[in-house]
Amino acid sequence: MEFQPLSAPGLVLNQWRAEDVEDVTAACQDPEIGRWTRVPWPYTREHAVAFLEIVGPHWAEDSAYNWAIRRTPAGPPIGSIGLKDVNLEEGTAEVGYWIAAAARGQGVATAATIAVVNWALDPAGLGLRRVDWCAAVGNDASRVIAEKAGIKVLGTKPIDPAAPCGQCNTEMWYGSATASAAPTA
Ligand SMILES: CC(C)(COP(=O)(O)OP(=O)(O)OC[C@H]1O[C@@H](n2cnc3c(N)ncnc32)[C@H](O)[C@@H]1OP(=O)(O)O)[C@@H](O)C(=O)NCCC(=O)NCCS
Repeated sequence: MEFQPLSAPGLVLNQWRAEDVEDVTAACQDPEIGRWTRVPWPYTREHAVAFLEIVGPHWAEDSAYNWAIRRTPAGPPIGSIGLKDVNLEEGTAEVGYWIAAAARGQGVATAATIAVVNWALDPAGLGLRRVDWCAAVGNDASRVIAEKAGIKVLGTKPIDPAAPCGQCNTEMWYGSATASAAPTA
């Protein structure tokens, strides 16, 4: 599908741009991102270039949808949010996010996640039946955000050795939001 811009209070979720490369590279030097996410670690400028090049094709092939989180349409990115493992036939996808360290603690991830989950489950939006989430056990901030976005934590599962989550050696929390339980922004 074509890129779909979204908004949240005080935020725009718009397209990644090639000129975001330095901001993405800088943000992803934060060990917390390497610790808790599947973002490569250590993170190089080449990783950012590759990420910025693949986002558009992923939208076009409906495999993943990713947004830059900005305070203004032309401003620098302060975070990333996306839906991966998109399966339009099954009506499922998994949400994931990181926020640059300087922009944390201001509700950015919560607002962006509510916007993406609502759009994903809205029949007038993407119309999925379920949005999944997982996080390494102990990532309490991510769990708070997920629950505020209507995700019900269902339990724990072992980490998939084929898809390790950052530097975490713990189990994963997993959960999902369903169309009938979507929050209002
Ligand atoms: C997790 C992360 C996305 C949070 O971004 P953020 O914009 O600061 O999040 P928000 O401000 O929207 O909300 C964070 C919530 O978690 C809470 N929180 C933060 N640290 C917490 C902790 N250690 N224990 C419990 N709650 C915590 C905050 O108090 C806030 O809740 P509140 O609004 O009720 O006060 C950000 O820290 C990050 O990018 N971390 C590294 C990458 C990551 O972990 N991504 C998620 C992978 S599943």
